[in-house]
Amino acid sequence: MMEELAHHILDVARNSLEAGATRVEITVEEDPASDVMRFSVIDNGSGMPPHVLRQLTNPFFTTKTGKKVGLGLPFLQAAVERCGGNLEIKSEVGRGTTVVATFPYYCWDRPPLGDIPRTIVSLLVGNGHLDLRYRHIYNGHSYELDTREIRSRLKGISLDTPEVLIWLRQYLTESLSILSGGGGYEIARRAG
Ligand SMILES: Nc1ncnc2c1ncn2[C@@H]1O[C@H](COP(=O)(O)OP(=O)(O)OP(=O)(O)O)[C@@H](O)[C@H]1O
Ligand SMILES: [Mg+2]
Repeated sequence: MMEELAHHILDVARNSLEAGATRVEITVEEDPASDVMRFSVIDNGSGMPPHVLRQLTNPFFTTKTGKKVGLGLPFLQAAVERCGGNLEIKSEVGRGTTVVATFPYYCWDRPPLGDIPRTIVSLLVGNGHLDLRYRHIYNGHSYELDTREIRSRLKGISLDTPEVLIWLRQYLTESLSILSGGGGYEIARRAG
């Protein structure tokens, strides 16, 4: 399977859920003109003490019991390094964690963005109560989706039902396509 930024985002946000986050904010910023492709994941989970934070990009470190390696963040770190990009992780116990990965937009080795709607829907499966905000900035134009807003319009129907999730995936796909001028996002990359 081809590596995608959307998979990395899913991994990072799954860490947030495992850390007990009730709110997760994901932002993707595509700015070809400035040669920047960035994503960030901000959560209000348990956070990490400094000794855990220091070990994060060590593949032999995990706090999961019954598991010997944690590969999510080391894998992301490697992808970032292949492009000379930057991975920043900030965390505070009891407050939450922020992960920011920045790639040069026009790095040949950069994973393509991939299927963001699929990532968002995957996070919501089994997590109908999660407050998830997704923001996408493309060439300075931004689009935002917030599950709190969607939930209030669903009038009691759970977000975590197949019908709602199928609709959400379709809706997000269309919205992101409109944001990038109808050509599908990342069109500038393919052209360039
Ligand atoms: N958002 C977060 N909040 C709190 N702790 C985190 C967060 N992200 C990572 N961690 C801590 O860092 C460790 C390493 O994370 P990483 O994603 O690299 O591996 P993992 O989640 O343990 O395993 P894998 O991703 O391979 O399933 C986690 O076990 C967890 O203790
Ligand atoms: Mg992980």
